[in-house]
Formats: sequence, C-alpha cells, structure tokens
Amino acid sequence: MSLMRLLLFLQGALQGCLSQSIHVFQIPEVNATKGSTVTLQCNYTLISTEETSIGWYRWYKHVLGGPEVSNDNVHFKDRVSRVTNTDFLSNGLANIQLHDVQLEESGMYLCEVEFMLNQSTKGYGNWTFLHVQGEIPDHLLYYTQS
Ligand SMILES: *[C@@H]1O[C@H](CO)[C@@H](O)[C@H](O)[C@H]1NC(C)=O
Ligand SMILES: *[C@@H]1O[C@H](CO)[C@@H](O)[C@H](O)[C@H]1NC(C)=O
Ligand SMILES: *[C@@H]1O[C@H](CO)[C@@H](O)[C@H](O)[C@H]1NC(C)=O
Ligand SMILES: *[C@@H]1O[C@H](CO)[C@@H](O)[C@H](O)[C@H]1NC(C)=O
Repeated sequence: MSLMRLLLFLQGALQGCLSQSIHVFQIPEVNATKGSTVTLQCNYTLISTEETSIGWYRWYKHVLGGPEVSNDNVHFKDRVSRVTNTDFLSNGLANIQLHDVQLEESGMYLCEVEFMLNQSTKGYGNWTFLHVQGEIPDHLLYYTQS
C-alpha cells in the first residue's frame, strides 16, 4: 500500500467511525435513601447516516457484560422501571428507576445503548456511582437540622 492509499484508507475508516456513533451521558453520582425510588439518568445522541429504529438499552452493575439490572435479574426482580419505547427512540432517554433500593445496591452502574445500523453499534456512558444511605432516624434529623 502506498502512503497515499494508506492515508485515504485511514481517512475512510475514520469517517466510517464518525458517521456512526452513539454518545452516551449518565450522571456521575446519585444519592438515595434505603427503601426509596432512585432514577439512574442516562441519555444519548445517535450520529448516523442511516435510519434505524431498532435499538435498546441495558444497565450493568459493576461489570460491563455482567448481570443486567433488570426485572429478569433475581436481585432486582420487579423493582426496575424503564422509559417507554417512545422516550427511548424519540427523546434519547435511557433511564431506569430502581424501587425500594437497598444498601447493598450502592456501587457503580453502567448505561449501554445499542442500535442495529449496518452493524451493531454500541455506546457507553461513564458510570454512575449510586450511594444508598440508611434511613435517617428522627432524632438525628433533629440534630442535623438544628
Ligand atoms: C443528558 O444528561 C446530561 C446529564 O447526564 C444532561 O446534562 C443533559 O442535559 C441531558 N440531555 C438531554 C437531551 O436530556
Ligand atoms: C452525595 O452525598 C455526599 C455526602 O454523603 C455528598 O458529598 C455528595 O455531594 C452527594 N452527591 C450528590 C449528587 O448529591
Ligand atoms: C454496510 O456494510 C456493508 C458490508 O459490511 C458495506 O459494504 C456497506 O458499504 C455498508 N454501508 C454503509 C452505508 O455503511
Ligand atoms: C470518566 O470518569 C473518570 C472518573 O470519574 C474520569 O477521570 C474520566 O475523565 C471520565 N471520562 C470521560 C470521557 O468523561
């Protein structure tokens, strides 16, 4: 390959990347009280020359590709709410809500957005740290407020 061909190849490869990408944003940190409902916020922008409406999103705790934070996961069963299809596809939202959040659910959560373009294209946020605190007893609340 001549240098010029190599440069053209690299430029083409780069444009290929740029023409199809997903930028994912999630909030870095959220605090919650045990037993409450917490929203893990995530949104995305899809940059693509192709039209697609085949996409979905997932959340992982601690490990990318590990167990999903979903109602199918026994640890989170029936405690996860997702945004509507319309909010996901049209409004770029990929939030989940965790209901009755527990102390041991403190940790790092990753938002993944995937679309079927010419090929499967994925984007990742930069993790959210969820910090679940115990309920504050009334007498401590009194002291912290005074
Ligand atoms: C996406 O989320 C970030 C924070 O994570 C927020 O600053 C931004 O406004 C959101 N964008 C949209 C379009 O909701
Ligand atoms: C969460 O709580 C810690 C202290 O417990 C505080 O330093 C931090 O700013 C809080 N973060 C948010 C996003 O409220
Ligand atoms: C889609 O993929 C095929 C095979 O990988 C390729 O030949 C074609 O140029 C791609 N089209 C676009 C629009 O990227
Ligand atoms: C992701 O988060 C880490 C740690 O908070 C930070 O150092 C890094 O700059 C962030 N990366 C991006 C692309 O925002």
